[in-house]
Amino acid sequence: MDNLNIEYIEGFAVQLVGYKTWAIDEFGIAQCYLIEGETQAALIDTGVGQGNLRGIVDKLTNKPYIVINTHGHTDHIGGNDEFTDHPIFMNEYDDNISHIERLSDEDLTKFFKKSFNEPGFYGQKIYNMKRRYGKFTYNNISEGDVFDLGGRTLEVIETPGHTQGSIVLFDKEDRYMFSGDTIVSTPILIFNGLNSATVEKFHKSLDKLMSFREKTDIIYPGHYLRPIGTTYIDELWELSEMIYKGEASSSSFDLSHMTTEKTIISKYRKASIVYTPDYVLDMAD
Ligand SMILES: [Fe+2]
Repeated sequence: MDNLNIEYIEGFAVQLVGYKTWAIDEFGIAQCYLIEGETQAALIDTGVGQGNLRGIVDKLTNKPYIVINTHGHTDHIGGNDEFTDHPIFMNEYDDNISHIERLSDEDLTKFFKKSFNEPGFYGQKIYNMKRRYGKFTYNNISEGDVFDLGGRTLEVIETPGHTQGSIVLFDKEDRYMFSGDTIVSTPILIFNGLNSATVEKFHKSLDKLMSFREKTDIIYPGHYLRPIGTTYIDELWELSEMIYKGEASSSSFDLSHMTTEKTIISKYRKASIVYTPDYVLDMAD
């Protein structure tokens, strides 16, 4: 059988996963997406920044393209400095976590070493722990901004929760959502050190996504299984409400490689959220 949908470029597995939509799998760690319209393309997230992501994107499209970050975490903006000659967009509420040149070598090494032990990691041959990150500048994006790619649009939905500057991109024409870490098949992480909002605020973000749910068929998340179904929105909506109303059961969950806080996990069907009790209720309200 011939598999025309998947190929290896620059050591990355690149899969055609939808209409003019390529998932670029960065060694099992992060999923970036390239989507193409009639006049321009958009690269959604740039991964950890190892390897030659730029080379892949330039092979996949000959259209001008923009870069959009779903949020400011290192494993979503790591390759931004390869694209400084292209417009880069991110929500400014993640500005404080997006200056990766401020991370110490020790922090970066710790982050990369962790990846080597993750199930599904396949980048041992080309992983370069000595890569130096460069600076980038970005344009702010906010609720309701629309990118017109030509016959295809991407609308920005602000979804604070995992981070304060998280966004989901809605492709109306193809009925897709690109969800970053806001909707993934593994736990949603909400705690101190990630620039998170609260579980309560995350629930409000899911409320908003519910209004797009009937216009969406599938979701392309920033990690692991992809695509995933819209029932993840329903189940995370239920779970986040149970948590902030104090009705969810929880158990301890070891994330000591990421935080010194004591994290706990709550689950409802496919949905799971890892959080700390001080990040449940929105005290500002
Ligand atoms: Fe993240």
